[in-house]
Amino acid sequence: MSPKIQKAYDLITNYHNANLEADDDELDAALSLRLQEVENDYSLPDLLVQYGGQHRLYLGDTSYHHIRTLYQCLEPFKPRKLLDLGSGYGRILFYGALLWPSVHFTGIEMVSHRVSEVLRVRDEFNLSHLQCIQGDVTNTTWPQADIYCLINSFTPSVMPIVVEQLRQISCCQSIILASASTSNLILEGQGWLEEVPHENDKGARLGIRLFKTAS
Ligand SMILES: C[S@@+](CC[C@H](N)C(=O)[O-])C[C@H]1O[C@@H](n2cnc3c(N)ncnc32)[C@H](O)[C@@H]1O
Repeated sequence: MSPKIQKAYDLITNYHNANLEADDDELDAALSLRLQEVENDYSLPDLLVQYGGQHRLYLGDTSYHHIRTLYQCLEPFKPRKLLDLGSGYGRILFYGALLWPSVHFTGIEMVSHRVSEVLRVRDEFNLSHLQCIQGDVTNTTWPQADIYCLINSFTPSVMPIVVEQLRQISCCQSIILASASTSNLILEGQGWLEEVPHENDKGARLGIRLFKTAS
């Protein structure tokens, strides 16, 4: 392992296991992930015109504090394949790929310059178990997974298509959904899902919540 990869691995595993305070800039820098620097070349109005105003396109990647909570919640389910829908700059993917090297991580992200940045870092860190696909989740083929993340990714207007896709997958296999933000309010009303209670972010309706195929 190169010193650079070792440093990022140590930082993330120490952070994850020791409940340290998160410094998002420090973790991004260890991964050489340049969110703001890349994003500065694009404006939100341009993105809305290019990709469609019905989508949640602003730069709003989840803080590492919440990503740690996400992986603490997912720990009992140790997946084989995780699909991150609307994966932004890939913080969730990179954190997971360093923490769980035997799990396969895929992101689907609409905005192409974000995908390019993810793939650049993926290649720099030789993370062959991490993929990122450029596309709109409402019309892109999803690779099979056992955990699906929808972390602050979609506006309520896009959710019916996403929910129907998840419902169809859930007919054939038992799945776990990790969600945050307004998607929670839509998932909590689905009869084919049941919530998996967890200790973190207790009582936060829009915080990280887990759902699974109802038994
Ligand atoms: C607010 S960011 C959150 C990123 C990531 N989920 C996280 O929590 O770190 C939402 C991301 O979802 C992407 N997105 C929104 N609608 C999408 C769609 N229909 N298909 C693919 N990506 C989408 C946006 O481009 C953006 O990068």
